[in-house]
Amino acid sequence: MRRPVIAGNWKLFKTIAEAVSMVNELKPLVAKCQDVEIVVAPVFTALSRVADALAGSNVKLSAQDCYWEEEGAFTGEVAPKLLKDAGCGYVIVGHSERRQYFGETDQTVNKKAKAAIAAGLNAIVCVGESLAERESDKTFSVIETQIQGGLSGFSADAFDQIVIAYEPVWAIGTGKTASDAQAQEVHAFIRQLIARLFNQSIADAVRILYGGSVKPDNVKGLMAQPDIDGALVGGASLKADSFAAIAAFNAL
Ligand code: 13P
Repeated sequence: MRRPVIAGNWKLFKTIAEAVSMVNELKPLVAKCQDVEIVVAPVFTALSRVADALAGSNVKLSAQDCYWEEEGAFTGEVAPKLLKDAGCGYVIVGHSERRQYFGETDQTVNKKAKAAIAAGLNAIVCVGESLAERESDKTFSVIETQIQGGLSGFSADAFDQIVIAYEPVWAIGTGKTASDAQAQEVHAFIRQLIARLFNQSIADAVRILYGGSVKPDNVKGLMAQPDIDGALVGGASLKADSFAAIAAFNAL
């Protein structure tokens, strides 16, 4: 059985004080969600303080990006081992906003995911097609290229630390969720692709999250799909009550 992951990507929101107060509100609301892995991803500057606030809880910490070198003259970058040092267990890699605005490519995603895994972090590797790509029937080829490039050279062992997130770009922050069937179709494709590129047991075990306008009122339908193993939530993860409701999708 694949243990569901509900992860909140806070993007560029919240001061340290706001982040700490949000998790203090969240912790009691999700304390009973023991069958789900719950993750929050604040901005870099809040990580360490949020880690302190999360100590002893069932909520885990993620960063939103990392660099692939351990140290050196790389002004402005943050190494995976420093994220671990700050209390992270996860890092998001290759989010579409990083691909779109900051020049992330499948090659840099690959280097970052490898470095994250080497440092002992779990990497949430994001893929997803744009609206133009979907409308020109390129969804599957785009996803295939991103998965093949992003996960190239990974050993079977590394998959214990890999979570894949399918986030169709047209569904991010638009209120336009992929339908349950649209999301399931791509998730099933990704799982078959992993079976083809690696092997069936890796494909059966890897968790594939859906992201793009996930809310308390659509999470249940998405999570009922056989190949959807969790959610990467943006807007609805910024408030404790809506994120907790998503994490409690089983009870909705
Ligand atoms: P929204 O849930 O705001 O659409 O954002 C999704 C996302 O990009 C999560 O990484």
